[in-house]
Amino acid sequence: MKRVLIVLLLTYFQPILSKTDQPVSINFRHSKFWPVGVVRFPNTVCNSLEGYTGTCYTKWECHNLGGVASGSCANGIGTCCIFQGTCGGNSSYNNTYFTNRGFPNTVSNSSSCTFTIKKCNSDICQVRLDFLNLNLAQPDGNGNCITDSLIISGGASNLPIICGQTVANTDIILMIATGALTFARSWNIKITQLACDCPSLAPTGCLMYYTALSGTVNSFNYGTTLSGGLVINPMNMTRPGTRQLANENYGVCVQMQPGYCAIEWSQGPGDTSFTVSNDTAFADASSVGLPGFPVIGTMCNTDFVVIPNPIYANGTTVGADRFCGNQLPTVISSSKPFVLTVVTDENDVSDVANRGFSLTYRQIPCGAPNGMLVLP
Ligand SMILES: *[C@@H]1O[C@H](CO)[C@@H](O)[C@H](O)[C@H]1NC(C)=O
Ligand SMILES: *[C@@H]1O[C@H](CO)[C@@H](O)[C@H](O)[C@H]1NC(C)=O
Ligand SMILES: *[C@@H]1O[C@H](CO)[C@@H](O)[C@H](O)[C@H]1NC(C)=O
Ligand SMILES: *[C@@H]1O[C@H](CO)[C@@H](O)[C@H](O)[C@H]1NC(C)=O
Ligand SMILES: *[C@@H]1O[C@H](CO)[C@@H](O)[C@H](O)[C@H]1NC(C)=O
Ligand SMILES: *[C@@H]1O[C@H](CO)[C@@H](O)[C@H](O)[C@H]1NC(C)=O
Repeated sequence: MKRVLIVLLLTYFQPILSKTDQPVSINFRHSKFWPVGVVRFPNTVCNSLEGYTGTCYTKWECHNLGGVASGSCANGIGTCCIFQGTCGGNSSYNNTYFTNRGFPNTVSNSSSCTFTIKKCNSDICQVRLDFLNLNLAQPDGNGNCITDSLIISGGASNLPIICGQTVANTDIILMIATGALTFARSWNIKITQLACDCPSLAPTGCLMYYTALSGTVNSFNYGTTLSGGLVINPMNMTRPGTRQLANENYGVCVQMQPGYCAIEWSQGPGDTSFTVSNDTAFADASSVGLPGFPVIGTMCNTDFVVIPNPIYANGTTVGADRFCGNQLPTVISSSKPFVLTVVTDENDVSDVANRGFSLTYRQIPCGAPNGMLVLP
């Protein structure tokens, strides 16, 4: 499974209404090692020389906290301190990077690896995971993660179902389980903790959350090469399987920006950038559901995306909100909040070689003629 720079959000704890704690910072005033008369500076967010997000500390503090110093901050008094952890570890620091052992080198071993995220203060409501790198073995032909999987547990609600889940109530636990297959695995997951009053908190029900005016949204494990997994269809024929992951049901939300009232969804570049159900191997180019024949409505009952109250770019109402097959028509939705729902079932027996989707979205300014593609 490989994804680059995809934002995944999960609701962490129920919101705490009274805000009593300060954002993360170590109270150095009580440190008995703190030399008298030294200038103190706020432990603000900084960027390391390598582009990682860190926190500004003195070199000495960074060393004591188990961080890695890289680059300077606070006008050269501080150093940008990066927190990184690996299998068996835990972190209560904001902006921690969870990597495989030896990253950027890969690991090929069969093992299981757990990392625990602890709240950096009591007023944390969400954790945001950025998959800077996640390269695990492909699912089987049905889209089930039978070899490798990333399992996230401990969230209060809206857990991402990437490959199964268990629910605990305290810390968030990331577990990467790897199977016997020899494979060059690697991961580097950025963990950001978001306070309950943070304006960038994702609304309930959103697993992925985007805030830009326009962008690209890929399904989990989207890719243009086949997974290698096979499925046997009801005619007992062996066919290429899917890359799309099975058993998913999640929301992709886009934060509505001031002055923008609608959102346009369209297929990304390439013929196979929306191959969600049916035969993607183009065995019979005249079939419905192949490129040029978007499948819409109740025919979409296995794997599909939902866009509420859509209209075509020419202003005509679509009249259904489910889209599947091998083509997504460009549609616009004015329903708020802006959310696209992704649903997949447990197998790909009636489908062939689906790859998932790469879609682009664009927020449309208020006052634009209904459905007309007026640029902001
Ligand atoms: C967290 O990790 C530290 C070492 O990095 C260890 O001493 C501590 O026991 C761990 N805590 C838990 C709850 O696992
Ligand atoms: C493979 O796993 C074993 C323990 O299960 C460990 O001792 C060894 O270092 C691992 N090798 C690599 C390359 O990760
Ligand atoms: C964690 O760091 C991010 C910046 O990377 C910041 O937006 C967020 O507010 C911080 N969280 C807390 C609890 O301070
Ligand atoms: C497929 O194979 C199974 C047994 O392997 C058999 O029972 C079934 O009738 C076959 N179906 C078709 C359509 O040939
Ligand atoms: C899949 O394609 C077949 C023809 O190959 C067609 O009969 C069927 O309606 C399509 N189903 C969907 C959901 O696209
Ligand atoms: C608008 O576009 C849709 C999809 O391309 C098409 O089916 C429909 O007939 C068009 N409506 C008009 C009024 O042109």
